[in-house]
Amino acid sequence: MKKTESLVNNSPSTSIAQQDQDTIWHPYTQMQTAGLAIPIVKAKAATLYAEDGSTYIDAISSWWVNLYGHSHPYIAKKVYEQLLNLEHVIFAGFTHPPAVHLSRRLLEILPNNQSKIFFSDNGSTAVEVGLKMAFQYWYNKGIAKTKVVAFKNAYHGDTFGAMAVSGRSAFTAPFASFLFDVHYIDVPVNGKEKESLAQLEALLQEGDTAAFIFEPLVQGAGGMIMYEPTALDALLDLCKQNEVICIADEVMTGFGRTGKYFACEYLHHQPDIMCLSKGITGGTMALAVTTCSQTIYDAFLSDDKLKTFFHGHSYTANPTACAAALASMDLLLQDDCSANLNRINKNHLQFNKLLQAKYPDKIANTRLRGTIFALEIKTKETTSYLNNIRDFIAAFFLEKGVLLRPLGNVVYILPPYCISNKELERVYAVIMELLERID
Ligand SMILES: Cc1ncc(COP(=O)(O)O)c(C=O)c1O
Repeated sequence: MKKTESLVNNSPSTSIAQQDQDTIWHPYTQMQTAGLAIPIVKAKAATLYAEDGSTYIDAISSWWVNLYGHSHPYIAKKVYEQLLNLEHVIFAGFTHPPAVHLSRRLLEILPNNQSKIFFSDNGSTAVEVGLKMAFQYWYNKGIAKTKVVAFKNAYHGDTFGAMAVSGRSAFTAPFASFLFDVHYIDVPVNGKEKESLAQLEALLQEGDTAAFIFEPLVQGAGGMIMYEPTALDALLDLCKQNEVICIADEVMTGFGRTGKYFACEYLHHQPDIMCLSKGITGGTMALAVTTCSQTIYDAFLSDDKLKTFFHGHSYTANPTACAAALASMDLLLQDDCSANLNRINKNHLQFNKLLQAKYPDKIANTRLRGTIFALEIKTKETTSYLNNIRDFIAAFFLEKGVLLRPLGNVVYILPPYCISNKELERVYAVIMELLERID
């Protein structure tokens, strides 16, 4: 008897949701108390179709990955064609057209100082690669710089290096003793700019800072915290003066979310290293890149093999994922994509005005950048991801057919760019319905 037979109800009549609960451990989920997962059997544009016939507007782009809608026929066609030709090949000693074309096209739209592309699989690995590039840059040069500066409240992923540079939180608590030391500065939100700058200045005084890592303009998982380009530029200016490697984690902000291709386009100073993933394939499959300037790359060129960047993954630069990314890039550069970014932003602006006028007592704060809109609900509870109001709100939205996953008491909309005005109106209406319900 196979082991699974003793544990799992294999009867054909057992629902997918039940079979799921019997066999699967879901991410970010307390399995003891979570209800059955909702089986999704189809997705088109901004709509998810559940097995029981219910539909959901995907107002968070399925964890911030989807750009042009689900099951996009153009991306599907390109992926299918690629699969019939070359599904995968080792990327050490070999290359292939999709990786080369994608790299060239990325460099065309990335900030001018970016000159090399390193592939990996997801946002966390993109960050790991960025950190390792920065640490080894100084190592290869024989310079003792090991200090890392990050923002309080940051989120850079779930692998160990990415956790280390993230803010210490409930997510990282069980691993705290295994994480390397990081020096945190305040996020330069309105009113905190000077404090944040002074904190960085103090840290840089000893001259041993290797890198500064940040989510440019919007801290995603930390609660869609937003700050201004001028504030970040002031910090980057200081880093540049002190030869600190600047790592922009654009895993969430990349590919149009903030209204420009990359959040760094709002800045005067450019990062030395950039981390990209999520939207890179239009939300179709896993792929990530870490890009760097020529200066970073050059520090690894040597007759000494020990200066090699010893990092790689089995599926590095998977051709199928690269084909999806190339198709996604075609769609990103179309005029109607930028029209959609503007349209969504305009809708958010109007909604923001309406909220301010109608619910001044219920809202602590609203924030808006490009296609991302966030509102912080006034509550008596703290703003933790784990607090109860979050669970109540998430369930309320799902019941209304809208997928929104609040971060604590922060409700945010981060939609695929194809979302229609009508669908956006529905999302706004459901949020207002929630505000009517709470005291
Ligand atoms: C800014 C940022 N960096 C890194 C990550 C980690 O990406 P992944 O979940 O693909 O590992 C995320 C995920 O939400 C993110 O928002």
